[in-house]
Amino acid sequence: MATAGKVIRCKAAVAWEPNKPLVMEEIEVAPPQAGEIRIKIVATGVCHTDLYHLFEGMHKDGFPAVLGHEGAGIVESVGPGVTEFQPGDKVIPLFISQCRECRFCKNPKSNQCEKGWAAEHYDVMALEESRFTCKGKKVLQFMGTSTFSEYTVMNQIAVAKIDPAAPLDKVCLLGCGICTGFGAAVNTAKVEPGSTCAVFGLGAVGLAAVMGCKFAGAKRIIAVDVNPDKFEKAKVFGATEFVNPKDHDKPISQVLAELTDGGVDFSLECVGNVGVMRSALESCTKGWGVSVVVGWTDLHDFSARPINLIAGRTWKGSLFGGFKSKDGVPQMVKAYLDQKVKLDEFITHNMTLAQVNDAIELMKHGKWRKSLLRRRVRPR
Ligand SMILES: NC(=O)c1ccc[n+]([C@@H]2O[C@H](COP(=O)([O-])OP(=O)(O)OC[C@H]3O[C@@H](n4cnc5c(N)ncnc54)[C@H](O)[C@@H]3O)[C@@H](O)[C@H]2O)c1
Ligand SMILES: [Zn+2]
Ligand SMILES: [Zn+2]
Repeated sequence: MATAGKVIRCKAAVAWEPNKPLVMEEIEVAPPQAGEIRIKIVATGVCHTDLYHLFEGMHKDGFPAVLGHEGAGIVESVGPGVTEFQPGDKVIPLFISQCRECRFCKNPKSNQCEKGWAAEHYDVMALEESRFTCKGKKVLQFMGTSTFSEYTVMNQIAVAKIDPAAPLDKVCLLGCGICTGFGAAVNTAKVEPGSTCAVFGLGAVGLAAVMGCKFAGAKRIIAVDVNPDKFEKAKVFGATEFVNPKDHDKPISQVLAELTDGGVDFSLECVGNVGVMRSALESCTKGWGVSVVVGWTDLHDFSARPINLIAGRTWKGSLFGGFKSKDGVPQMVKAYLDQKVKLDEFITHNMTLAQVNDAIELMKHGKWRKSLLRRRVRPR
């Protein structure tokens, strides 16, 4: 590759500071160092966690940064010691690593890894080290990935090699939202055949959770959202009933208890709101109900009445759907190619990287489920 070993100058959407539009800039992307891979990003989705960092978390030490963590691309070059990847491989960058060596990676019960940003940088949401600079300043790599750039550099422990037949403009969604929601139902809640489920929040994560409940054989899947525009799409993924909390003047947990003779077997919170997390817990049945927190927030504590747990409910959380990332993502790509999971149906808009602020505005106003930014990549 003509660019191997050289700094690549390319376009990226830089978040200079919180709560401000992203700015298209030319950035410098350093060559990969030992154990690293430089990737040409071909397509990326927008996830609510990008918006969370920009507008809600706003951690001052987390800027300037290049956001985006739901992408797919092609290996441009590899650093010393990399044998698993070569230029031309199709890959998906991973926001949680799988080093295969640490105590978490070796334990089948967890998808945590002691390495990578997610091991200790949840607050800043980026590693201290970055291969990006812009106008003489270091620019952080959000969630270690930074897919709102034409090129990025990742450690090999946080990259999944995928089937060369996979269409990158679809499978990029497996880099976050779809694995997260689907896995939260299948791996974390462990939804059972014949069960009754409730999914709160019908963005891409919630819709993927609906798809996961159906995949696991749930009989009833109650989709809950304050935006009724989302209900039609939820049906496509397997929802059987719909509840809009705004249509009721009693707590949503009571509405669901009446619909289900005491509460659902499994509930999944895919909003990122501590009040909804509590409602989701209270909506599942005493005795055996399982409620999973999927929505992302680190801004508020949540609370619940202890009796809810004493009476036999289980409250769990799920990061990236419980998938061990390097193992799980290629399996989900295969499931898509084998038509066992849907991806195309999640996409509502195709836009260019230069339109990223429009994409963010659409998401903020709930006008889409999942958009996709493609880019033409011309390294200079
Ligand atoms: N745990 C993880 O690993 C992980 C990974 C990715 C995303 N997330 C989080 O998952 C959440 C969903 O992400 P997304 O990209 O699907 O977001 P989104 O903004 O597209 O969807 C959120 C949905 O929740 C609905 N909603 C808002 N308030 C509600 C309420 N009170 N009751 C019911 N529904 C309500 C909205 O109308 C919207 O449809 C976010 O918090 C995101 O940060 C977590
Ligand atoms: Zn995400
Ligand atoms: Zn590890």
